[in-house]
Amino acid sequence: MNYKLLHMNIHGDAQGNLISIESMKNIPFEFKRMYYIFGTQPNIRRGKHAHKKTEQVLIAIKGSCKLFLDDGTNKETIKLNKNYEVLYLPPNLWHEMYDFSTDCVLVVLASDFYNENDYLRKYDDFLKYWVHDEKNN
Ligand code: TYD
Repeated sequence: MNYKLLHMNIHGDAQGNLISIESMKNIPFEFKRMYYIFGTQPNIRRGKHAHKKTEQVLIAIKGSCKLFLDDGTNKETIKLNKNYEVLYLPPNLWHEMYDFSTDCVLVVLASDFYNENDYLRKYDDFLKYWVHDEKNN
């Protein structure tokens, strides 16, 4: 599966800690948008979609959540609970976020502006798009 779990460098000193994220330096794309998810109830499952083109990184800067990932063939579950771990999600990867801790703040950096046309919100559409894409690569 072609996600990447990236470990950010922590600049720690007597003041405390700092993590810096820079386009094309420690994440593999230029980001145009940042959003964050917080106050998610523990029994909620979010996401449940794939993107046609948008690349994203997800960071649980506070608390924890789990990610269910599916590339159309393989399925994996990842727990995000470290603010120095950055999960890179390429396009065409079905993802669901769940098991949010009540204090979880999930920051997302995206390669493009919000555009509903970039979403595959039906699993069948994702599978069809994925098969189409595979054939053309
Ligand atoms: P949604 O895609 O349902 O969130 P999730 O993938 O976490 O389940 O988005 C929730 C709402 O926010 C929906 O009305 C679309 C809107 N939204 C924006 O306006 N801009 C954005 O960048 C994002 C990600 C969502």
